[in-house]
Amino acid sequence: MMGHTGVALALVVALFCPALAHRAIGERSKCVSSSRTIYDTPFNFTMLNGTTVPLSKFRGEIHITINATYLSTHGANWQYPLFNALQELEGVTVLGFPCNQFGLQEPGANSEILKILEHVRPGGGFQPNFPMFEKLEVNGENAHPLFKFLKDQCNVVTSQFAPKARLFYEPIQPNDIEWNFHKFLVDQEGRARRRYHHNTPPDAAIVRKDIRFLQNN
Ligand SMILES: *[C@@H]1O[C@H](CO)[C@@H](O)[C@H](O)[C@H]1NC(C)=O
Ligand SMILES: *[C@@H]1O[C@H](CO)[C@@H](O)[C@H](O)[C@H]1NC(C)=O
Ligand SMILES: *[C@@H]1O[C@H](CO)[C@@H](O)[C@H](O)[C@H]1NC(C)=O
Repeated sequence: MMGHTGVALALVVALFCPALAHRAIGERSKCVSSSRTIYDTPFNFTMLNGTTVPLSKFRGEIHITINATYLSTHGANWQYPLFNALQELEGVTVLGFPCNQFGLQEPGANSEILKILEHVRPGGGFQPNFPMFEKLEVNGENAHPLFKFLKDQCNVVTSQFAPKARLFYEPIQPNDIEWNFHKFLVDQEGRARRRYHHNTPPDAAIVRKDIRFLQNN
């Protein structure tokens, strides 16, 4: 929950890519050992409900960041309920950043995204219990500095990208986020610690183990 003290994790997620399904599930990579943090540069982010908060509001908590999906198929938004479960963990906060750069799967206006989650995918009245922010770009020349930083800090998980026709940014770089529901884990101090393949379930044993490690250290 926001307001938790203790562990700060940053987990960034990207959307589900049918082309990459069943590949690299559970894969993750390490991040550099560095004193640099996501709080070194101050940023304000606006949540989908209109409230603007400084990123530093999340210092000392565990954060998970996700991208919302709208048009993706194959149950692309199956990960959302699992993020709700992670958000319930002590000191963990999930931060969701919708992005439309992968297969144009997030075409909706910011004002539509929560309604899409509620009524379409995953639907059934679903409501994220964690902050979802306005759309941003994570790759390419207009990538948000937060994501540039996270990509700089962590090794790529896979070099397998979707076909170029489905990547809506330029230039394509080797350390790009490969698809929606890609995730980064950030510790309490704001240091990037892990990077996870987009198909890694939010509640995968390996993710929970990484979170436990941060909770206990
Ligand atoms: C964030 O918002 C606060 C309050 O409006 C403002 O004082 C501050 O300059 C903003 N910071 C950035 C980096 O935009
Ligand atoms: C938006 O959500 C945040 C986090 O749940 C909450 O603190 C804030 O009051 C909400 N803003 C509005 C306008 O509902
Ligand atoms: C969120 O999704 C957008 C596009 O769907 C993507 O560009 C962005 O990288 C994702 N966020 C993260 C942290 O991967």
